[in-house]
Amino acid sequence: MSQGWDSSIRNELQMVEQEIHRSILSEQPLLTEICDYVISSGGKRMRPGVTILSYLECGGKKVSEVVKIAAAFEMIHSATLIHDDINDRSEMRRGRLSAYKKFGLQQALVSGDFLFVKAFAIGGFFNEEIVGLVAEACTAIAESEIVQFEKEGEVASIDVYLGIIEGKTAKPIMAGARIGAYLANADPDRIHAMGEYGLNIGMAFQIVDDILDIVGTESYLGKPRMVDFFEGKATLPLIHAMEDTAAGPRLSQLFHVKVKSESDLEEAQALILGTDAIERSKQKAKEYAEKALTALSGLPDSEHKLGLQRLAAKIVDRNY
Ligand code: IPE
Ligand code: IPE
Ligand code: MG
Ligand code: MG
Repeated sequence: MSQGWDSSIRNELQMVEQEIHRSILSEQPLLTEICDYVISSGGKRMRPGVTILSYLECGGKKVSEVVKIAAAFEMIHSATLIHDDINDRSEMRRGRLSAYKKFGLQQALVSGDFLFVKAFAIGGFFNEEIVGLVAEACTAIAESEIVQFEKEGEVASIDVYLGIIEGKTAKPIMAGARIGAYLANADPDRIHAMGEYGLNIGMAFQIVDDILDIVGTESYLGKPRMVDFFEGKATLPLIHAMEDTAAGPRLSQLFHVKVKSESDLEEAQALILGTDAIERSKQKAKEYAEKALTALSGLPDSEHKLGLQRLAAKIVDRNY
């Protein structure tokens, strides 16, 4: 058996793909085509994976039920990526042209809305508690995106940064983990523990994504690098690098350039890499991953728990 974090849930993840493909059928073939273009372009399927692993770890037996809600989470995720690429003006996603570049801005916008609605239609099969958790996750994304826009161009504090990534990335993963446990009829302590796991891997994950934005290669990322800096987003590695007395002043100058050139980006990247900012940020991501593992410590050992543990380890060990 392979050592992947998701090796115990391959069948369930296959069912998620089928559920998504059923859900995106539309009388308007273009809508289905755009959604399929995005969904079929890859992606780690981390969000549905976490929901399913949480469900199985908590003793859930009705796989068809959790598969539906897991599919809804992946659809919400895909919708946010379509909209995110419009907002971030990112031209590549998962190694392909982003949806708005390929199909046009209006078409991509509407397809993202369509995916949100279809995800909520799935959520509607479940009870109020679950619908509420899904809605809360989507609200957190929207609210933190607003804060992110407001802070664009500013060197935000670490607390502001952590608040943004909690809302846009960690809380949705937390909601998926909690729902998995809730659907499995887990007791409140266990639901809480799974939520803590999800929240903390989400924080670690976004910090690593923000590190990769600076140090990753485009072929590995499937999306361009230095986008955050270009857009004026102060991520953790940048905030740390700005604290460096040698690199800070010049970095700050470059950060405030309105339309940054390729050479500005290269210079900024070299400056950041010359500081301990990446190392410190990795350390922070590791701390969150550790907290996620601690949250699992009271849960029974199983192949699913192992999957959750492997995922936490993999998140902080992605190729740099
Ligand atoms: C991208 O998420 C958006 C962030 C929260 C950084 P993923 O990197 O999980 O996207 P896919 O689904 O695997 O492509
Ligand atoms: C994640 O943020 C976006 C959402 C969770 C909506 P990023 O903007 O950093 O994601 P990437 O880097 O484009 O994948
Ligand atoms: Mg983006
Ligand atoms: Mg990013």
